Amino acid sequence: MLTSLSELTVDLGALRHNYLALRRFCAPGVRLMAVVKADAYGHGLLPVARTLAAAGADYLGVATLEEGLALREAGLTLPVALLLGVEPEQAAAAVAADLEVVLYRRDVAQALDAAARAQGKRARVHLKADTGMGRLGLLYPEVLPFLEMLAGLPGLEVLGLASHLAAADEEDPVYTRRQLKEFQELLAAARARGFALPLSHLANSAALVAFPEAHFALVRPGIMLYGSRVAPWLPTPELKPVMHFRTRVLQRKRLPPGSGISYGSTYVTPDWCELAVLPVGYANGLSRQLSNRGQVLVQGRRVPIRGRVCMNLIMVEVTGLAGVQEGDTVTLLGADGGELISGDELAAWAGTISYEVFCNLGAANPRHYLPA
Ligand SMILES: Cc1ncc(COP(=O)(O)O)c(C=O)c1O
Repeated sequence: MLTSLSELTVDLGALRHNYLALRRFCAPGVRLMAVVKADAYGHGLLPVARTLAAAGADYLGVATLEEGLALREAGLTLPVALLLGVEPEQAAAAVAADLEVVLYRRDVAQALDAAARAQGKRARVHLKADTGMGRLGLLYPEVLPFLEMLAGLPGLEVLGLASHLAAADEEDPVYTRRQLKEFQELLAAARARGFALPLSHLANSAALVAFPEAHFALVRPGIMLYGSRVAPWLPTPELKPVMHFRTRVLQRKRLPPGSGISYGSTYVTPDWCELAVLPVGYANGLSRQLSNRGQVLVQGRRVPIRGRVCMNLIMVEVTGLAGVQEGDTVTLLGADGGELISGDELAAWAGTISYEVFCNLGAANPRHYLPA
């Protein structure tokens, strides 16, 4: 029985299971950076980071300095990489907290070098190359000159070359192979010039399972830790759902044929309809795109959302289900009996990806944790 109208539960045991399952895809010696940016994809930065650290993760990856500092303030001592990098004025704080920085700007390199030397340290950096993502990073011809420039900054220790894959989750491997080839060529050229780059990394979750040749020294999975399969053709291990979102039946009613449901009456009952009104809506992170499209689980059975998703309410049809009562538990994400609504499925109904579903639900609802 839920104690509040709706509850978001994060199963840290499932998270640990997924971490160990992904670990088995990596050769011994390959290190694993658990990507816990964006509040651990909505699952909660600190509980997730602590669980993964205890399970054996070698590294944590966050987006921003603030997230990195939060990990340090909570006492986490693992290496942490700031995947977005920093601005020059953040360099001293990053160095002081031993946070590693993804680097692609000369002014930031100089600021990190100065901060490190002032603190009697070396700032550890990962040089970011854009091999086809069209996002952060240096383009191919810029990488070697940048490395030569870094060699003149004694306060820096360049750990490795990093890049991000744009299409590792797609069925066609051509684009990923092209990115991988460019990454390998860059590494070889840098090493031929004497840059060791021992901790280079490229693989996200999809590449971790589908492209072992992209593992290099370190892999950077995010979404699969949280239980998403991402795409059906990927050779994914058995992953467990980590986030569960449940609510309860606030009102049950029987509507005659011809009744409009929710704003705009976009659903009109063709027949007598048993309706359950649920106290969740887009204010809880449920996309309005689920209107007349999504499903929920009641008594372990799938039932459809009828009409538009409101700010704090949705309606589902429970016609044919015996004994549904006010106060009964309803599952919007996760398992009930033998049925499961996965983040991928919820995302497909809403025309988005599980990443966004988890971020939205996690940000909009208080979280409860099941221990690892
Ligand atoms: C730079 C970087 N590396 C790794 C990841 C993890 O990717 P995924 O969640 O697809 O495993 C992300 C996530 O977007 C990222 O931005």
